[in-house]
Amino acid sequence: RVPGMQSLRQRRRELQEHIAEGKLDAVRRQHSLGKLTARERLALLLDEDSFVELEPYRRHRSSGPGLAGNRPYTDGVVTGSGTVDGRRVFVYAQDFTLFGGSLGEAHAAKIHKILDLAIANGAPVIGLNDSGGARIQEGVLALNGYGGIFRRQVEASGVIPQISVILGPCAGGAAYSPALADFTFMVRDTARMYLTGPDVVEAVTGRRVSHEELGGADVHGTHSGVATVVHDDEEDCLADVRYLISLLPSNYLEPAPATARTGAADDYRPRLAEIVPPSPNQPYDMREVFAEVADDGEFFEVHAGWARNVLCALARIDGRVVGLVGNQPVVLAGVLDGPAAQKAARFVRFCDAFGIPLVSLVDVPGFLPGVEQERSGIIRQGAQLLHAYCEATVPRIQVILRKAYGGAYIVMDSRSIGCDLSLAWPTNEIAVMGAEGAVNVLYRRDLAAAADPAALRARLVAEYTEEYLNPQYSAERGLVDDIIDPADTRAAIARGLAMLQDKRKPGPSRKHGNLPI
Ligand code: COA
Repeated sequence: RVPGMQSLRQRRRELQEHIAEGKLDAVRRQHSLGKLTARERLALLLDEDSFVELEPYRRHRSSGPGLAGNRPYTDGVVTGSGTVDGRRVFVYAQDFTLFGGSLGEAHAAKIHKILDLAIANGAPVIGLNDSGGARIQEGVLALNGYGGIFRRQVEASGVIPQISVILGPCAGGAAYSPALADFTFMVRDTARMYLTGPDVVEAVTGRRVSHEELGGADVHGTHSGVATVVHDDEEDCLADVRYLISLLPSNYLEPAPATARTGAADDYRPRLAEIVPPSPNQPYDMREVFAEVADDGEFFEVHAGWARNVLCALARIDGRVVGLVGNQPVVLAGVLDGPAAQKAARFVRFCDAFGIPLVSLVDVPGFLPGVEQERSGIIRQGAQLLHAYCEATVPRIQVILRKAYGGAYIVMDSRSIGCDLSLAWPTNEIAVMGAEGAVNVLYRRDLAAAADPAALRARLVAEYTEEYLNPQYSAERGLVDDIIDPADTRAAIARGLAMLQDKRKPGPSRKHGNLPI
């Protein structure tokens, strides 16, 4: 007989009962709200039977109201590790059926442990959030617990991918955990994220708003940019997290998982020339270009509903994972504005941190002019994108489809800021500005004095177009490496990626740069 076995068996039984039953009323309520339980979620997220739970017996030591004598196992968060398509991940899932998933000292310590293990093992961390926030009765220890999560997340930034999934409330300081993650998923109707809830907003501002209006999935997926991906239900959401994991490296030292070569280097795609109208002002959906360029037409788009004038997506080309950045001519004619610059900047930095090559598909008329844009800091936000590209050391390929004007040309990974391979279609126009604007500035006096200003303007515009907007201009000056047949775009990118696959470019020695955030 091994001493203590009897009490161990008893504790295991208690734990099993706890897991099997939960708080039955609370589980029913959870389901009636359209939400799954923490364990049901983990079962959807992880490979079957792969979950290894850690610290299931942990519980709080608080004697606050409602807590004294009420010390359920797990303390309202299920933590551990499992696999997604056979690859290791670390996870925590908050359990709303226990104390509303609120975070106290023990709950936080379990999450700290998961983050520490994820960093030490070089594996992605996925947090499933469903919580009333800091556990009020545990006071400053709860706040201290959050601080420990944030500090570890920042330590993990650029080391392992961090994914935050919001499946219920995520209020107050808790919202900074998803904000620090690389990818944040939200589910419509049940997920809500705000620093101060509707009651406080009403008390302070007098305005009555619903939870959904204040911090629902669509608010963060469309207006604030806090949510990277929005889904209608938890099943789709968790399946999409699995898809994302399939595209990510486990940590910054490992390559993203490549699949078998797809023969992209010889793949001729005549449809590209049909998608993109030759006239520079006619819109088309850049998503269709992404689909032509990517293996199997598949890509994982981030921030699909926010700053839609720029598109950012992870995809594979010839089996290699790449980050695609593209201007989107169907939204605001594809101009860059503040949010678009920030969206692309964060994506570029993510790709660079995790060794994912960047492919920028450029068709940009410029930055958005306007009083509001200037006042809201388009210079600062544009500088973030510039900074992100300039410091990126991964392979960088630029393809100019039609036009690239002014500062926006520079920012969209031009040769001058360090792209390794610049390709352009025969329709390319790369210049400081369009012909009309340029002629107005250069020949204002001549036009004012001309007997027939319209005729003079037409001649000058034609001359400017011939000289500066001709497709050879940049190639002759070494700013574009090659002018390619549009149908050859996917193949040329694939050949470029092969050429650059061993690129190494150590950064300068310093503590860190000062990103203009
Ligand atoms: N601390 C302690 N207990 C909490 C809690 C918190 N922050 N949030 C929720 N709970 C408890 C509730 O008291 C309730 O306990 P009970 O089952 O013993 O009655 C249980 O969790 C479920 O919460 P309930 O309020 O019934 O759920 P709901 O779906 O109606 O509302 C919230 C969810 C999150 C909107 C609501 O609980 C809330 O406003 N919580 C406080 C949020 C907050 O301000 N947190 C601090 C931010 S840092």
